[in-house]
Amino acid sequence: MPRFSKYFTRKGIIDMNLKGRHFLKLLDFTPEEIGGLLDLAADLKAKKKAGIPHRLCEGKNIALIFEKTSTRTRCAFEVAAADLGMHPVYLDPNGSQIGRKESIADTAHVLGRMFDGIEYRGFGQDIVEELAKYAGVPVFNGLTNEFHPTQILADFLTVREHFGSLAGQKLVYMGDARYNMGNSLMVGAAKMGMDFVACAPEKYFPSKALRKTCAAIAGETGASLAFETDPKTAVRGADVIYTDVWVSMGEPSEIWEERIRDLLPYQVNAKIMKAAGPGCRFMHCLPAFHDLGTEIGREIHNRFGLSALEVTDDVFSGPASIVFDEAENRMHTIKAVLAASMG
Ligand code: CP
Ligand code: NVA
Repeated sequence: MPRFSKYFTRKGIIDMNLKGRHFLKLLDFTPEEIGGLLDLAADLKAKKKAGIPHRLCEGKNIALIFEKTSTRTRCAFEVAAADLGMHPVYLDPNGSQIGRKESIADTAHVLGRMFDGIEYRGFGQDIVEELAKYAGVPVFNGLTNEFHPTQILADFLTVREHFGSLAGQKLVYMGDARYNMGNSLMVGAAKMGMDFVACAPEKYFPSKALRKTCAAIAGETGASLAFETDPKTAVRGADVIYTDVWVSMGEPSEIWEERIRDLLPYQVNAKIMKAAGPGCRFMHCLPAFHDLGTEIGREIHNRFGLSALEVTDDVFSGPASIVFDEAENRMHTIKAVLAASMG
């Protein structure tokens, strides 16, 4: 019997063992495995709140490579590791030889000799896949240009907490839907039988190849996938409206002007929330540009006169917003991934 079966409380004991598995993208996991990780996360969250120790990875070590900056993902991995009895070592965007003086393969071999697991946040998905190929220990994707799979686990745990289930929930993603968040939400929604809508100008839709892959998955799970250019049509009856920044980490700041021109009609504001209906909730992976509280937000305000970008402050700070539940759940879900793979 797999060691972690006893944690899968909502569905009873199921035959699943993720020990030693990489966590690189949701495409690599079955709906049962994703559901199982959410069950484990809910169980570990309850244990944390009740003060019940859960040091399932006692004495292990994990390397946290961040080639891009982070608040949530880094803190989630560090706190989760500590709660599980592990020692995390953080490698900052400039503090290692990775990529510049040492190849990804050599780095993977070296870290694999010292650590029991490796997290990587950075650029191409090919980098995290290469790390996994050579590390000899589980590798976890903490965000690449293409995918952000640990974020989706947090998002889906949050949806489940607020709506009771995932299957049949309508999630509308507004904005740049061809980057890590749009891609990953589409994959996750297809896997979990949700109704997913990407709403953006056509050039911001996920790639044709990924849409085809997800359509095949949706055919098996009963999910639906739609691609809309009209916001009001897209959000009708939505349970969740989700958005993300219009310019992602690693993209040049010169593209702000084009992105604002293209995506301002897709801003999540009171009118959009009203068109969705009263039960609709607002989600965002964060960080968000919803006011002038950030340096970049103030720069954009000076250049373009806008005081909010992808979401207005009344929505972000209003009663429909569940963004901080979502942020907290980063820690519980990342903990579940680490415990399942490294415990
Ligand atoms: N949502 C998310 O990944 O946040 P960070 O960039 O702060 O890790
Ligand atoms: N699309 C964003 C997500 C941040 C969590 C980025 O890559 O910067």
